[in-house]
Amino acid sequence: MLPVNTVPLLPCICARVITMRDPLGHYGSVTLHLHLRAAGVSLVLHSTDDRLPSIVHWGPDLGADLDVPSLVRGLSPASTSASADTGVRFSLVAQESEAYTGRPGLTGSRGAVGWSPRFRVLTVEESADGATIEATDDQIQVSVRTTIGLDPYGVLLLRHSLRNDGAEPYTVRELAAVLPVPGVVGELLDLAGRWALERQPQRRPTSVGTWLRELRHGRTGFEAPLVTVAGTPGFGNRHGEVWGIHLGWSGNARTWYDQTPDGQRSLGAAELLGPAGLVLAPGGTYETPQLYGSWSDTGLDGLADRLHDHVRARPSHPSTPRPVVFNTWEAVYFDQSLEALTALADRAARVGAERFVLDDGWFLGRRDDTAGLGDWEVDPEVWPQGLTPLIDHVLGLGMDFGLWVEPEMVNPDSELLRAHPDWALAVAGHEPITWRHQLVLDLSRPAVFDHLLNRLDALLSDHRIAYVKWDHNRDLMDAGGVDGQEALHDNVLAVYRLLDSLRARHPGVEIESCSSGGGRVDLGILARTDRVWGSDSIDAVDRQAIQRWTSLLLPPELVGSHVGAPRAHTTERVLDLPFRGATALFGSLGIEWDVSRATEDELAALSGVVAAYRELRPLLHSGRVVHADLPGPCLLHGVVARDGRSAVFCYAQLASSPTPLPGPVRLPGLRADVRYLVENLVPPAPSTEPVPPRWLPEPLTLPGRALASAGLALPVLKPAQAVLVTLKDTGVH
Ligand code: DGJ
Repeated sequence: MLPVNTVPLLPCICARVITMRDPLGHYGSVTLHLHLRAAGVSLVLHSTDDRLPSIVHWGPDLGADLDVPSLVRGLSPASTSASADTGVRFSLVAQESEAYTGRPGLTGSRGAVGWSPRFRVLTVEESADGATIEATDDQIQVSVRTTIGLDPYGVLLLRHSLRNDGAEPYTVRELAAVLPVPGVVGELLDLAGRWALERQPQRRPTSVGTWLRELRHGRTGFEAPLVTVAGTPGFGNRHGEVWGIHLGWSGNARTWYDQTPDGQRSLGAAELLGPAGLVLAPGGTYETPQLYGSWSDTGLDGLADRLHDHVRARPSHPSTPRPVVFNTWEAVYFDQSLEALTALADRAARVGAERFVLDDGWFLGRRDDTAGLGDWEVDPEVWPQGLTPLIDHVLGLGMDFGLWVEPEMVNPDSELLRAHPDWALAVAGHEPITWRHQLVLDLSRPAVFDHLLNRLDALLSDHRIAYVKWDHNRDLMDAGGVDGQEALHDNVLAVYRLLDSLRARHPGVEIESCSSGGGRVDLGILARTDRVWGSDSIDAVDRQAIQRWTSLLLPPELVGSHVGAPRAHTTERVLDLPFRGATALFGSLGIEWDVSRATEDELAALSGVVAAYRELRPLLHSGRVVHADLPGPCLLHGVVARDGRSAVFCYAQLASSPTPLPGPVRLPGLRADVRYLVENLVPPAPSTEPVPPRWLPEPLTLPGRALASAGLALPVLKPAQAVLVTLKDTGVH
């Protein structure tokens, strides 16, 4: 593959023959050949005889002169007497009526009938980067509208919408977005995890059958796969051919790799609808979440590169420098007072924080986590003069102000639930399951939605708030809504609408998506938020892995990453500041530590971390994220500027190494022709042996070619130590 930034950026449709249904409504002979090309990727769709198109190729660019019919003929399998005489078709909505025996694209019915659709194409609308194909099944009386395309970075975007054209209700149980992958795949990677240890990788060989992940937490979940990858055996960070998908959805979901005995392989994902499915009234529609697909022949970094480019090109992507956040949670927990927090704000400003976020504990009755959620009024017992004196103080120090809320939740011990006991999700006759002493509001009820929107709107109107930390601290389970219906689907859409409405009223306010740490990290929630909180674990050893795997989808500027206290609150592991700082730098930096207890040396070192972040921020938040393929408990990752003329790397030792003297480490992603000035960034604290403040006695210049192939000797580290290396173009070639 050519580097993504050197190939034409605009997708182009290279070949097509489209005949649509004629004005009298008769089907013509619909032949669709669509060849989309962007940034080194080709996507080829094909169909004949009104049938739903199939994806016949998704992968490397096949060139402008591709003759699609010849490709299709070349790829057609020989028929055997052991399969349907018509041959098997695997179309955009895989159908049993085309002899497909893998997971079906649509599962639904109208009572006991209408369960086997056979869609015929009605119209094809082309756009600059793809097509929208409308197909119908006249007998069942449902239509499907599929929008598929490649963005300028080669990311495949796919979404279906299903309409009930009949006079009786139609029940959808699953509508999946599925992409074929070729026979060269032999290994799968996706992520799992738990609270405070999100996004841990798991790998397995492919085989016949389905590797199915079901996420039933009513939120994205700590163990969400994030990106489901199928690749050539042994693929790594920088090598191998890989195909990956991500579902932009913040509720229950299924993702899978499916392999049929006759050799069809696919990656798919769908919203996991409730046990009763979704009942579409006549004329009603159901739209699937957006599916994102990324292909690369340079391993996981190439796959993530495209996704990062896609994410960064969104009009809503933050365009201002990501401020250094000071968050009060692990500094004071619920122990809030004007005096303590103004003192903390003074220290935060002194070390260079740019945003001060008042976390949980400021509202009515919220002295601990057993009460108060739902009562979004400033508690006069804790804040007798309201929040304004603190906000004025924070703004006076040159920082902006952020406030924590958890709008979707309610404590049974709250004024809100006492006044509206029917507002929480519950199944009639069941004692609702509490979790962290809280219940979930049914946002799909207009009264609840309006109440929350008005309350949040008032908070933002009455205070100078630049940032909202929007938390969500429990799973949604046994989530019965109005009339006893399962309400998860409606609640995900309602929270999206709530966020959208609030943003429309307060366009300048940024929102962070937090969910007991990193429990709601997906591109659905990120379409209306500006950052995710990576994890409740600020332990820098665990964070190295959490951040590495989060970067499969998200660039660093979207992932909150804080310097915590010397002893991590979640794991009790004690870590040096240089390691904590070097870890937190590679994200949207923050501090979450009671710095009123920090020593002068620690404060000076923390200021050093903040200064390094501010200097490196333009590079960190725009460059390409790279990871070396290293054995053992060491990581080498970095960010290389898009023009390849500067870079910063972090080399981190996570545990004791079996190799006391590692050989030189190859630095990935550099430009071969650039001669770099290589320096190590002095660890931002009095050094701990054996990392010398400078292991490079004097600056070194070397071409990228040498650094990428021969490598660079890095210092011998002990567990939980890291060094930073910066590279700059010397201008000498
Ligand atoms: C969970 C979050 O992840 C924490 O950062 C903190 O905001 C607490 N909730 C507050 O209750």
